[in-house]
Amino acid sequence: MATALKTGMRTLDESFAKLLDSDTNADQVTAAMRRDEPIHPGPTLVPTARYISREYHELEKERLWSKVWQMAAHEDDFPNVGDVVPYDIVDKSYLVVRVADDEYKAYYNACLHRGRKLRESRAKGLDELRCAFHGWAWELDGTLKQVPCAYDYTDLDREAESLPEVKLGRWGRYLFINPDPDCEPLEDYVGDLSSQFEVFPYERRYKSAHVAGVIKANWKVVQEAFMESYHVFMTHPQALAHGAHDGDTKYDVFGNYSRAILCGALDGAGIPDWGPMPEQEAGLVRVRHPLTGTIYESHGDGVVHVTTRDGKSGKFDSLAKWLEGDTIDANPHMCIVVAGVQLPDAGVAGVETENADPEAAMQRLGENASGRAVMSEMQRQVLREVIPSVADDIPDIELTAAIYLTLFPNFHPWGSFNRINYRFRPNGDNHEECIMECMYLSPIPDDGNYTPVSEIHWLENNDDWTGAPELGSLGGVFNQDVRNMAFVYDGMKATARECTRLADYNETKIRHFHELYGEWVDD
Ligand code: FES
Ligand SMILES: [Fe+2]
Repeated sequence: MATALKTGMRTLDESFAKLLDSDTNADQVTAAMRRDEPIHPGPTLVPTARYISREYHELEKERLWSKVWQMAAHEDDFPNVGDVVPYDIVDKSYLVVRVADDEYKAYYNACLHRGRKLRESRAKGLDELRCAFHGWAWELDGTLKQVPCAYDYTDLDREAESLPEVKLGRWGRYLFINPDPDCEPLEDYVGDLSSQFEVFPYERRYKSAHVAGVIKANWKVVQEAFMESYHVFMTHPQALAHGAHDGDTKYDVFGNYSRAILCGALDGAGIPDWGPMPEQEAGLVRVRHPLTGTIYESHGDGVVHVTTRDGKSGKFDSLAKWLEGDTIDANPHMCIVVAGVQLPDAGVAGVETENADPEAAMQRLGENASGRAVMSEMQRQVLREVIPSVADDIPDIELTAAIYLTLFPNFHPWGSFNRINYRFRPNGDNHEECIMECMYLSPIPDDGNYTPVSEIHWLENNDDWTGAPELGSLGGVFNQDVRNMAFVYDGMKATARECTRLADYNETKIRHFHELYGEWVDD
Protein backbone atom coordinates (compact mmCIF):
# COMPACT_ATOMS: atom_id res chain seq x y z
CA MET A 1 0.00 0.00 0.00
CA ALA A 2 1.07 3.53 -0.63
CA THR A 3 1.24 5.41 2.67
CA ALA A 4 0.29 9.00 3.38
CA LEU A 5 2.38 10.34 6.24
CA LYS A 6 1.81 13.94 7.24
CA THR A 7 0.17 17.24 6.51
CA GLY A 8 1.26 20.67 5.30
CA MET A 9 1.86 21.50 1.67
CA ARG A 10 2.65 24.50 -0.40
CA THR A 11 0.45 25.04 -3.43
CA LEU A 12 0.29 27.73 -6.07
CA ASP A 13 -3.36 28.60 -5.54
CA GLU A 14 -3.22 32.36 -4.87
CA SER A 15 -0.22 33.28 -6.99
CA PHE A 16 -1.63 31.23 -9.85
CA ALA A 17 -4.99 33.01 -9.72
CA LYS A 18 -3.17 36.37 -9.85
CA LEU A 19 -1.14 35.20 -12.83
CA LEU A 20 -4.32 34.27 -14.71
CA ASP A 21 -5.88 37.65 -13.91
CA SER A 22 -2.89 39.40 -15.45
CA ASP A 23 -3.14 37.40 -18.70
CA THR A 24 -3.88 38.91 -22.06
CA ASN A 25 -7.40 37.60 -22.80
CA ALA A 26 -7.93 36.94 -19.09
CA ASP A 27 -11.67 36.82 -19.73
CA GLN A 28 -11.08 33.72 -21.86
CA VAL A 29 -9.39 31.76 -19.07
CA THR A 30 -11.60 28.71 -18.59
CA ALA A 31 -13.29 27.68 -15.35
CA ALA A 32 -11.35 24.41 -15.55
CA MET A 33 -8.06 26.33 -15.62
CA ARG A 34 -9.08 28.14 -12.44
CA ARG A 35 -9.98 24.98 -10.55
CA ASP A 36 -7.76 24.48 -7.54
CA GLU A 37 -7.91 20.87 -6.41
CA PRO A 38 -4.66 19.87 -4.75
CA ILE A 39 -4.20 16.29 -3.66
CA HIS A 40 -4.58 15.63 0.06
CA PRO A 41 -1.37 15.94 2.06
CA GLY A 42 1.38 13.36 1.77
CA PRO A 43 4.09 12.34 1.35
CA THR A 44 3.63 8.86 -0.06
CA LEU A 45 5.92 5.85 0.13
CA VAL A 46 5.70 3.43 -2.79
CA PRO A 47 7.05 -0.12 -2.46
CA THR A 48 9.79 -0.77 -5.04
CA ALA A 49 8.11 -4.16 -5.54
CA ARG A 50 5.45 -2.35 -7.56
CA TYR A 51 8.08 -1.67 -10.18
CA ILE A 52 10.52 -4.53 -10.02
CA SER A 53 8.59 -7.65 -9.01
CA ARG A 54 7.06 -10.09 -11.45
CA GLU A 55 4.24 -10.64 -8.94
CA TYR A 56 2.99 -7.08 -9.44
CA HIS A 57 3.19 -7.51 -13.20
CA GLU A 58 1.00 -10.59 -12.92
CA LEU A 59 -1.44 -8.68 -10.69
CA GLU A 60 -1.54 -5.86 -13.26
CA LYS A 61 -2.42 -8.40 -15.96
CA GLU A 62 -5.27 -9.80 -13.91
CA ARG A 63 -6.63 -6.67 -12.23
CA LEU A 64 -5.59 -3.70 -14.34
CA TRP A 65 -4.99 -4.36 -18.03
CA SER A 66 -7.94 -6.73 -18.35
CA LYS A 67 -10.33 -4.27 -16.70
CA VAL A 68 -9.32 -0.65 -17.25
CA TRP A 69 -10.07 1.73 -20.12
CA GLN A 70 -6.92 2.16 -22.18
CA MET A 71 -6.07 4.23 -25.21
CA ALA A 72 -5.69 1.79 -28.11
CA ALA A 73 -5.53 3.96 -31.24
CA HIS A 74 -6.40 7.30 -32.82
CA GLU A 75 -8.86 7.95 -35.66
CA ASP A 76 -5.95 9.12 -37.82
CA ASP A 77 -4.54 5.58 -37.70
CA PHE A 78 -7.46 4.60 -39.94
CA PRO A 79 -7.56 6.77 -43.08
CA ASN A 80 -10.00 4.34 -44.75
CA VAL A 81 -12.72 1.85 -43.95
CA GLY A 82 -11.10 -1.56 -43.58
CA ASP A 83 -7.99 -0.21 -41.82
CA VAL A 84 -6.91 -2.35 -38.90
CA VAL A 85 -4.66 -1.56 -35.91
CA PRO A 86 -3.58 -4.24 -33.43
CA TYR A 87 -3.34 -3.08 -29.85
CA ASP A 88 -1.01 -5.29 -27.81
CA ILE A 89 -0.93 -5.09 -24.04
CA VAL A 90 1.04 -7.54 -21.88
CA ASP A 91 0.19 -11.02 -23.22
CA LYS A 92 -3.05 -9.91 -24.89
CA SER A 93 -3.79 -8.52 -28.33
CA TYR A 94 -6.86 -6.75 -29.67
CA LEU A 95 -7.78 -5.52 -33.12
CA VAL A 96 -9.34 -2.14 -33.66
CA VAL A 97 -11.12 -1.99 -37.03
CA ARG A 98 -12.70 0.88 -38.92
CA VAL A 99 -15.91 -0.85 -39.92
CA ALA A 100 -17.69 2.07 -41.62
CA ASP A 101 -17.13 5.78 -42.11
CA ASP A 102 -17.78 6.67 -38.50
CA GLU A 103 -17.90 3.26 -36.88
CA TYR A 104 -15.12 1.34 -35.13
CA LYS A 105 -15.12 -2.04 -33.43
CA ALA A 106 -12.56 -3.87 -31.31
CA TYR A 107 -12.10 -7.65 -31.32
CA TYR A 108 -9.90 -10.17 -29.56
CA ASN A 109 -7.05 -10.67 -32.00
CA ALA A 110 -7.51 -14.43 -32.30
CA CYS A 111 -9.05 -16.77 -34.83
CA LEU A 112 -12.00 -18.82 -33.58
CA HIS A 113 -10.68 -21.93 -35.32
CA ARG A 114 -7.36 -22.80 -33.71
CA GLY A 115 -6.52 -19.45 -32.25
CA ARG A 116 -3.93 -17.91 -34.57
CA LYS A 117 -3.65 -14.15 -34.23
CA LEU A 118 -5.77 -12.69 -37.00
CA ARG A 119 -3.37 -9.83 -37.73
CA GLU A 120 0.17 -9.34 -36.50
CA SER A 121 0.59 -5.80 -37.81
CA ARG A 122 -1.38 -2.85 -39.12
CA ALA A 123 -3.30 -3.32 -42.35
CA LYS A 124 -4.99 -0.94 -44.74
CA GLY A 125 -8.23 -1.18 -46.67
CA LEU A 126 -9.18 -4.77 -45.87
CA ASP A 127 -12.62 -5.97 -46.90
CA GLU A 128 -12.48 -8.95 -44.56
CA LEU A 129 -10.48 -10.35 -41.64
CA ARG A 130 -9.04 -13.62 -42.91
CA CYS A 131 -6.85 -15.90 -40.83
CA ALA A 132 -3.51 -16.76 -42.43
CA PHE A 133 -3.50 -20.34 -41.10
CA HIS A 134 -6.51 -22.11 -42.71
CA GLY A 135 -8.42 -19.19 -44.12
CA TRP A 136 -11.44 -18.69 -41.90
CA ALA A 137 -12.74 -15.21 -42.71
CA TRP A 138 -14.96 -12.62 -41.05
CA GLU A 139 -16.66 -9.51 -42.36
CA LEU A 140 -15.32 -6.24 -40.94
CA ASP A 141 -18.39 -6.12 -38.68
CA GLY A 142 -17.32 -9.42 -37.12
CA THR A 143 -19.88 -11.75 -38.70
CA LEU A 144 -18.53 -15.05 -40.01
CA LYS A 145 -17.97 -14.85 -43.76
CA GLN A 146 -16.33 -18.07 -44.86
CA VAL A 147 -15.11 -21.37 -43.47
CA PRO A 148 -13.04 -23.43 -45.92
CA CYS A 149 -14.34 -27.04 -46.03
CA ALA A 150 -17.40 -25.95 -44.07
CA TYR A 151 -18.90 -29.46 -44.50
CA ASP A 152 -16.39 -30.60 -41.90
CA TYR A 153 -18.04 -28.54 -39.13
CA THR A 154 -21.43 -30.16 -39.04
CA ASP A 155 -22.76 -28.42 -35.94
CA LEU A 156 -21.32 -24.97 -36.59
CA ASP A 157 -23.71 -22.20 -35.52
CA ARG A 158 -22.52 -19.40 -37.78
CA GLU A 159 -24.08 -16.65 -35.65
CA ALA A 160 -22.25 -17.88 -32.59
CA GLU A 161 -18.99 -17.68 -34.54
CA SER A 162 -18.99 -13.91 -34.90
CA LEU A 163 -15.75 -12.38 -33.61
CA PRO A 164 -16.08 -11.63 -29.89
CA GLU A 165 -15.93 -7.89 -29.28
CA VAL A 166 -14.32 -5.88 -26.53
CA LYS A 167 -15.81 -2.59 -25.41
CA LEU A 168 -14.77 0.42 -27.42
CA GLY A 169 -15.19 4.06 -26.47
CA ARG A 170 -14.17 7.34 -28.08
CA TRP A 171 -12.75 10.47 -26.59
CA GLY A 172 -11.17 13.37 -28.47
CA ARG A 173 -10.67 11.32 -31.67
CA TYR A 174 -8.88 8.64 -29.62
CA LEU A 175 -10.22 5.09 -29.49
CA PHE A 176 -10.16 3.38 -26.11
CA ILE A 177 -10.82 -0.27 -25.41
CA ASN A 178 -11.80 -2.14 -22.28
CA PRO A 179 -11.74 -5.96 -22.15
CA ASP A 180 -14.09 -6.00 -19.14
CA PRO A 181 -17.66 -6.50 -20.42
CA ASP A 182 -19.01 -5.05 -17.15
CA CYS A 183 -16.91 -1.90 -17.15
CA GLU A 184 -18.35 1.56 -16.60
CA PRO A 185 -18.87 3.63 -19.77
CA LEU A 186 -15.79 5.51 -20.99
CA GLU A 187 -17.69 8.80 -20.58
CA ASP A 188 -18.03 8.13 -16.84
CA TYR A 189 -14.42 6.97 -16.55
CA VAL A 190 -12.88 10.09 -18.12
CA GLY A 191 -15.27 12.38 -16.22
CA ASP A 192 -14.86 16.04 -17.11
CA LEU A 193 -11.48 15.59 -18.82
CA SER A 194 -12.74 17.47 -21.90
CA SER A 195 -13.26 20.63 -19.84
CA GLN A 196 -9.46 20.91 -19.63
CA PHE A 197 -9.22 21.38 -23.38
CA GLU A 198 -12.08 23.81 -23.93
CA VAL A 199 -9.88 26.43 -25.61
CA PHE A 200 -8.89 23.93 -28.27
CA PRO A 201 -10.46 20.48 -27.95
CA TYR A 202 -8.89 17.23 -29.05
CA GLU A 203 -11.68 16.81 -31.60
CA ARG A 204 -9.93 19.61 -33.49
CA ARG A 205 -6.45 18.04 -33.47
CA TYR A 206 -4.80 15.59 -35.84
CA LYS A 207 -1.86 13.27 -35.36
CA SER A 208 1.22 14.78 -36.97
CA ALA A 209 3.90 12.49 -35.47
CA HIS A 210 4.01 9.11 -33.73
CA VAL A 211 7.34 7.81 -32.45
CA ALA A 212 7.95 4.72 -30.31
CA GLY A 213 10.95 3.28 -28.52
CA VAL A 214 11.70 0.52 -26.04
CA ILE A 215 13.26 1.49 -22.73
CA LYS A 216 14.88 -0.85 -20.25
CA ALA A 217 12.81 -0.14 -17.18
CA ASN A 218 9.35 -0.92 -15.86
CA TRP A 219 6.64 1.14 -17.59
CA LYS A 220 5.76 2.99 -14.40
CA VAL A 221 9.36 4.07 -13.84
CA VAL A 222 9.44 5.59 -17.33
CA GLN A 223 5.99 7.14 -17.17
CA GLU A 224 6.66 8.80 -13.84
CA ALA A 225 9.65 10.64 -15.33
CA PHE A 226 7.10 12.54 -17.40
CA MET A 227 4.69 13.36 -14.58
CA GLU A 228 6.53 16.06 -12.65
CA SER A 229 8.56 19.20 -13.28
CA TYR A 230 10.81 18.52 -10.29
CA HIS A 231 13.46 16.81 -12.45
CA VAL A 232 13.77 19.69 -14.91
CA PHE A 233 16.46 21.66 -13.13
CA MET A 234 18.78 18.65 -12.85
CA THR A 235 17.90 16.59 -15.93
CA HIS A 236 17.12 19.41 -18.39
CA PRO A 237 19.19 22.32 -17.04
CA GLN A 238 19.16 24.04 -20.44
CA ALA A 239 15.39 24.54 -20.05
CA LEU A 240 15.88 26.81 -17.02
CA ALA A 241 17.24 29.55 -19.24
CA HIS A 242 13.85 29.58 -21.00
CA GLY A 243 11.85 30.27 -17.86
CA ALA A 244 11.05 26.69 -16.82
CA HIS A 245 11.95 26.04 -13.23
CA ASP A 246 10.92 23.59 -10.60
CA GLY A 247 8.91 25.78 -8.26
CA ASP A 248 6.28 27.18 -10.60
CA THR A 249 4.23 24.13 -11.43
CA LYS A 250 0.67 23.82 -10.17
CA TYR A 251 -0.68 20.32 -9.62
CA ASP A 252 -4.30 19.20 -9.28
CA VAL A 253 -6.19 15.92 -9.24
CA PHE A 254 -9.66 15.22 -10.63
CA GLY A 255 -11.15 11.72 -10.40
CA ASN A 256 -9.25 9.46 -12.78
CA TYR A 257 -6.97 12.16 -14.13
CA SER A 258 -4.40 14.62 -12.85
CA ARG A 259 -2.95 17.86 -14.19
CA ALA A 260 0.30 19.79 -14.00
CA ILE A 261 0.66 23.38 -15.18
CA LEU A 262 4.29 24.45 -15.51
CA CYS A 263 3.74 28.17 -15.79
CA GLY A 264 6.86 28.97 -17.81
CA ALA A 265 7.99 32.26 -19.29
CA LEU A 266 7.82 33.97 -15.91
CA ASP A 267 10.00 36.99 -15.35
CA GLY A 268 12.56 36.76 -12.58
CA ALA A 269 12.93 32.99 -12.54
CA GLY A 270 15.84 33.33 -10.13
CA ILE A 271 18.51 32.40 -12.67
CA PRO A 272 21.81 34.27 -12.13
CA ASP A 273 22.77 36.71 -14.86
CA TRP A 274 26.04 35.36 -16.26
CA GLY A 275 26.44 38.17 -18.77
CA PRO A 276 26.84 37.74 -22.51
CA MET A 277 28.24 34.52 -23.95
CA PRO A 278 31.44 34.70 -26.00
CA GLU A 279 30.77 35.08 -29.69
CA GLN A 280 29.86 31.81 -31.36
CA GLU A 281 31.32 30.62 -34.66
CA ALA A 282 29.26 28.60 -37.14
CA GLY A 283 28.83 24.92 -36.38
CA LEU A 284 29.50 25.32 -32.66
CA VAL A 285 26.85 24.36 -30.16
CA ARG A 286 27.27 26.26 -26.92
CA VAL A 287 25.05 26.15 -23.84
CA ARG A 288 25.70 27.64 -20.42
CA HIS A 289 24.50 25.71 -17.38
CA PRO A 290 22.09 28.26 -15.92
CA LEU A 291 22.83 27.47 -12.28
CA THR A 292 26.61 26.95 -12.27
CA GLY A 293 27.55 29.20 -15.20
CA THR A 294 29.76 26.47 -16.69
CA ILE A 295 29.88 26.54 -20.48
CA TYR A 296 29.48 23.35 -22.52
CA GLU A 297 30.33 23.43 -26.22
CA SER A 298 30.79 20.99 -29.05
CA HIS A 299 31.75 21.13 -32.71
CA GLY A 300 29.55 18.17 -33.58
CA ASP A 301 32.41 15.64 -33.20
CA GLY A 302 30.99 14.08 -30.01
CA VAL A 303 33.59 15.85 -27.82
CA VAL A 304 32.26 18.31 -25.26
CA HIS A 305 34.54 21.16 -24.15
CA VAL A 306 33.68 22.28 -20.63
CA THR A 307 34.82 25.62 -19.17
CA THR A 308 33.98 26.50 -15.59
CA ARG A 309 33.47 30.01 -14.19
CA ASP A 310 36.98 30.03 -12.73
CA GLY A 311 38.50 29.32 -16.13
CA LYS A 312 39.31 25.62 -15.73
CA SER A 313 38.55 23.44 -18.73
CA GLY A 314 38.29 19.82 -19.77
CA LYS A 315 37.06 17.55 -22.52
CA PHE A 316 34.37 14.90 -22.11
CA ASP A 317 32.45 12.49 -24.30
CA SER A 318 28.69 12.67 -24.86
CA LEU A 319 28.05 10.59 -21.73
CA ALA A 320 30.25 12.90 -19.60
CA LYS A 321 33.23 10.53 -19.46
CA TRP A 322 36.40 12.55 -18.82
CA LEU A 323 38.87 12.62 -21.70
CA GLU A 324 41.41 15.28 -20.71
CA GLY A 325 41.93 18.60 -18.88
CA ASP A 326 41.85 20.00 -15.31
CA THR A 327 38.12 19.79 -14.92
CA ILE A 328 37.31 16.21 -14.09
CA ASP A 329 33.57 16.33 -13.56
CA ALA A 330 30.87 17.37 -16.04
CA ASN A 331 27.10 17.33 -16.01
CA PRO A 332 25.96 14.28 -18.03
CA HIS A 333 22.68 15.87 -19.12
CA MET A 334 24.49 18.91 -20.51
CA CYS A 335 26.95 16.66 -22.36
CA ILE A 336 24.11 14.63 -23.93
CA VAL A 337 22.27 17.65 -25.18
CA VAL A 338 25.32 19.56 -26.43
CA ALA A 339 27.04 16.61 -28.15
CA GLY A 340 23.85 15.17 -29.66
CA VAL A 341 22.25 15.86 -33.01
CA GLN A 342 20.86 19.40 -32.97
CA LEU A 343 17.32 19.58 -34.29
CA PRO A 344 15.29 22.75 -34.69
CA ASP A 345 12.37 23.52 -32.45
CA ALA A 346 9.34 21.77 -33.96
CA GLY A 347 7.43 25.01 -33.54
CA VAL A 348 4.00 25.84 -32.24
CA ALA A 349 1.29 23.71 -33.81
CA GLY A 350 3.85 22.45 -36.30
CA VAL A 351 4.48 25.87 -37.80
CA GLU A 352 8.02 27.24 -37.75
CA THR A 353 8.32 29.93 -35.13
CA GLU A 354 11.21 31.74 -36.76
CA ASN A 355 8.82 34.19 -38.41
CA ALA A 356 7.44 35.23 -35.05
CA ASP A 357 8.27 38.87 -34.60
CA PRO A 358 8.98 40.21 -31.09
CA GLU A 359 8.97 43.84 -32.30
CA ALA A 360 5.48 43.49 -33.75
CA ALA A 361 4.36 41.77 -30.56
CA MET A 362 5.70 44.64 -28.41
CA GLN A 363 4.02 47.17 -30.66
CA ARG A 364 0.71 45.45 -30.27
CA LEU A 365 1.01 45.07 -26.48
CA GLY A 366 2.78 48.29 -25.51
CA GLU A 367 6.28 48.70 -24.14
CA ASN A 368 5.42 47.72 -20.57
CA ALA A 369 4.34 44.24 -21.63
CA SER A 370 5.88 41.39 -19.65
CA GLY A 371 8.17 38.84 -21.26
CA ARG A 372 5.39 36.33 -20.76
CA ALA A 373 2.86 38.47 -22.62
CA VAL A 374 5.30 39.06 -25.50
CA MET A 375 6.05 35.37 -25.81
CA SER A 376 2.31 34.61 -25.86
CA GLU A 377 1.72 37.18 -28.56
CA MET A 378 4.50 35.63 -30.67
CA GLN A 379 2.75 32.28 -30.37
CA ARG A 380 -0.50 33.92 -31.47
CA GLN A 381 1.28 35.30 -34.54
CA VAL A 382 2.15 31.75 -35.52
CA LEU A 383 -1.30 30.35 -34.70
CA ARG A 384 -2.99 33.04 -36.80
CA GLU A 385 -1.52 31.24 -39.81
CA VAL A 386 -3.19 27.96 -38.80
CA ILE A 387 -6.29 28.64 -36.72
CA PRO A 388 -7.18 32.31 -37.23
CA SER A 389 -10.68 31.52 -35.91
CA VAL A 390 -9.38 31.22 -32.34
CA ALA A 391 -5.81 32.56 -32.28
CA ASP A 392 -6.68 36.03 -31.03
CA ASP A 393 -8.78 34.80 -28.12
CA ILE A 394 -6.28 32.47 -26.49
CA PRO A 395 -5.15 33.53 -23.00
CA ASP A 396 -1.43 33.61 -22.20
CA ILE A 397 -1.58 30.60 -19.89
CA GLU A 398 -2.62 28.35 -22.79
CA LEU A 399 0.34 29.59 -24.84
CA THR A 400 3.21 29.70 -22.38
CA ALA A 401 2.52 26.93 -19.87
CA ALA A 402 3.39 23.27 -20.26
CA ILE A 403 0.07 21.70 -19.25
CA TYR A 404 0.39 17.96 -18.97
CA LEU A 405 -2.39 15.66 -17.90
CA THR A 406 -2.50 11.98 -17.05
CA LEU A 407 -5.54 9.79 -17.44
CA PHE A 408 -5.02 6.69 -15.35
CA PRO A 409 -3.31 4.40 -16.03
CA ASN A 410 -1.03 5.45 -18.90
CA PHE A 411 -2.38 8.11 -21.27
CA HIS A 412 -0.94 11.63 -21.16
CA PRO A 413 -2.62 14.28 -23.33
CA TRP A 414 -1.03 17.72 -23.04
CA GLY A 415 -2.99 20.92 -22.97
CA SER A 416 -2.25 24.29 -24.56
CA PHE A 417 -0.59 24.15 -27.96
CA ASN A 418 2.24 21.93 -26.87
CA ARG A 419 1.44 18.95 -29.04
CA ILE A 420 2.83 16.13 -26.91
CA ASN A 421 0.76 13.06 -26.05
CA TYR A 422 2.38 10.03 -24.41
CA ARG A 423 1.46 6.43 -23.84
CA PHE A 424 3.56 4.02 -21.75
CA ARG A 425 3.00 0.27 -21.41
CA PRO A 426 4.95 -2.90 -20.68
CA ASN A 427 6.86 -4.27 -23.66
CA GLY A 428 4.70 -7.31 -24.25
CA ASP A 429 4.83 -9.61 -21.25
CA ASN A 430 8.20 -8.24 -20.12
CA HIS A 431 7.73 -6.02 -17.08
CA GLU A 432 11.40 -4.96 -17.23
CA GLU A 433 10.92 -3.08 -20.49
CA CYS A 434 8.59 -0.27 -21.48
CA ILE A 435 7.21 0.86 -24.82
CA MET A 436 7.25 4.64 -24.74
CA GLU A 437 5.30 6.47 -27.44
CA CYS A 438 5.24 10.17 -28.17
CA MET A 439 2.54 11.47 -30.47
CA TYR A 440 2.14 15.03 -31.66
CA LEU A 441 -1.45 16.24 -31.91
CA SER A 442 -1.54 19.41 -33.99
CA PRO A 443 -4.46 21.78 -34.53
CA ILE A 444 -6.54 20.94 -37.59
CA PRO A 445 -6.06 24.10 -39.67
CA ASP A 446 -9.10 26.25 -40.34
CA ASP A 447 -8.57 25.69 -44.07
CA GLY A 448 -8.90 21.93 -43.56
CA ASN A 449 -5.59 21.32 -45.29
CA TYR A 450 -3.47 18.76 -43.40
CA THR A 451 -1.95 15.30 -43.73
CA PRO A 452 -2.14 13.09 -40.65
CA VAL A 453 0.38 10.41 -39.77
CA SER A 454 -1.08 6.90 -39.65
CA GLU A 455 2.03 4.81 -39.01
CA ILE A 456 4.34 4.46 -36.01
CA HIS A 457 8.00 5.39 -36.42
CA TRP A 458 9.86 2.84 -34.28
CA LEU A 459 13.30 4.11 -33.27
CA GLU A 460 16.26 2.20 -34.61
CA ASN A 461 18.36 3.17 -31.62
CA ASN A 462 16.19 3.23 -28.52
CA ASP A 463 18.70 5.39 -26.65
CA ASP A 464 18.66 8.16 -29.22
CA TRP A 465 15.39 9.98 -29.80
CA THR A 466 17.08 12.44 -32.16
CA GLY A 467 16.65 9.56 -34.61
CA ALA A 468 13.10 10.92 -34.96
CA PRO A 469 13.67 14.35 -36.54
CA GLU A 470 9.90 14.90 -36.65
CA LEU A 471 10.04 15.47 -32.88
CA GLY A 472 12.34 18.45 -33.36
CA SER A 473 14.42 19.58 -30.38
CA LEU A 474 12.38 17.38 -28.03
CA GLY A 475 14.45 14.40 -29.20
CA GLY A 476 17.49 15.74 -27.35
CA VAL A 477 15.36 16.38 -24.27
CA PHE A 478 14.07 12.78 -24.32
CA ASN A 479 17.64 11.53 -24.51
CA GLN A 480 18.25 13.22 -21.17
CA ASP A 481 15.13 11.62 -19.65
CA VAL A 482 15.76 8.20 -21.09
CA ARG A 483 19.35 8.15 -19.86
CA ASN A 484 18.05 8.21 -16.28
CA MET A 485 15.62 5.34 -16.73
CA ALA A 486 17.73 2.19 -16.61
CA PHE A 487 19.71 3.73 -13.73
CA VAL A 488 16.50 4.40 -11.79
CA TYR A 489 15.30 0.88 -12.40
CA ASP A 490 18.63 -0.71 -11.47
CA GLY A 491 18.80 1.53 -8.41
CA MET A 492 15.41 0.28 -7.28
CA LYS A 493 16.83 -3.23 -7.31
CA ALA A 494 19.99 -2.15 -5.49
CA THR A 495 18.44 0.00 -2.78
CA ALA A 496 18.52 -0.85 0.92
CA ARG A 497 15.06 0.68 1.20
CA GLU A 498 11.82 -1.08 0.36
CA CYS A 499 10.05 2.08 -0.73
CA THR A 500 10.60 5.16 -2.82
CA ARG A 501 9.48 8.47 -1.34
CA LEU A 502 7.31 10.93 -3.23
CA ALA A 503 7.24 14.66 -2.56
CA ASP A 504 4.07 16.07 -1.00
CA TYR A 505 3.26 18.48 -3.80
CA ASN A 506 5.74 18.35 -6.69
CA GLU A 507 5.05 14.65 -7.13
CA THR A 508 1.28 15.03 -6.82
CA LYS A 509 0.58 13.31 -10.12
CA ILE A 510 2.65 10.26 -9.24
CA ARG A 511 1.03 10.09 -5.80
CA HIS A 512 -2.38 10.26 -7.47
CA PHE A 513 -1.37 7.48 -9.86
CA HIS A 514 -0.26 5.24 -7.00
CA GLU A 515 -3.43 5.82 -5.04
CA LEU A 516 -5.51 4.69 -8.02
CA TYR A 517 -3.04 1.89 -8.74
CA GLY A 518 -3.47 0.66 -5.18
CA GLU A 519 -7.25 0.62 -5.60
CA TRP A 520 -7.02 -1.37 -8.83
CA VAL A 521 -4.14 -3.70 -8.10
CA ASP A 522 -3.63 -4.16 -4.35
CA ASP A 523 -5.93 -6.32 -2.24
S1 FES B 1 -6.36 -21.01 -36.95
FE1 FES B 1 -7.39 -19.57 -38.11
S2 FES B 1 -8.16 -20.62 -39.79
FE2 FES B 1 -7.23 -22.12 -38.60
FE1 LIG C 1 12.05 15.35 -18.70
